[in-house]
Amino acid sequence: MKKNSECHLSTNMAASQARPRRSLNLASLVLLAFFATVAMLAFSRPSVEAQTKAQTSKATSAPVGNAQKGKKLFASYGCYECHGHAAHGGVGPQIGPDPIPFSAFLAYVRHPSGNMPPYTAKVASDQDIADIHAFLASLPRSPKAKDIPLLNQ
Ligand code: HEC
Repeated sequence: MKKNSECHLSTNMAASQARPRRSLNLASLVLLAFFATVAMLAFSRPSVEAQTKAQTSKATSAPVGNAQKGKKLFASYGCYECHGHAAHGGVGPQIGPDPIPFSAFLAYVRHPSGNMPPYTAKVASDQDIADIHAFLASLPRSPKAKDIPLLNQ
């Protein structure tokens, strides 16, 4: 009996090969659709989350700069060498007072497009750059020409 059933199985194998394969294909299609859905969910959800996170962190977590520290960093990082001690410019342009908005400032310092050397996050932290930005923002503005008595005599 046993031998017989084995024989039955093996001869049937060849004949019924087409069927298991077709059902396998169907199964793999269903699996594929399942994984595609899971993947779509998995990839779309976090990216939306990441986007909103990035937006909120942009809005809330820009480091608060300390002008006193920034003054020291402006010297120790050598910004003054090109931008001048009062940031009025030299080899580099004037960058203070009234520096460009912090996000643009940080982006430029990290990836300058011209002759300025880049300052990576390893060299200068976001906090350091925020301090320098605060220092630049704290610099006194030049008086208007009409407010300088000598020029109005
Ligand atoms: C070796 C010279 C050099 C040093 C050092 C340097 N810069 Fe610059 N920087 C430049 C030059 C030149 C430019 C003009 C654009 C360019 O060529 O990259 C510039 C442009 C900039 C700008 C863009 C100004 C604008 O209005 O678009 C910012 C901001 C800036 N520098 C900040 C800094 C800060 C902060 C430091 C110090 C951490 C620094 N730079 C150090 C040479 C320098």
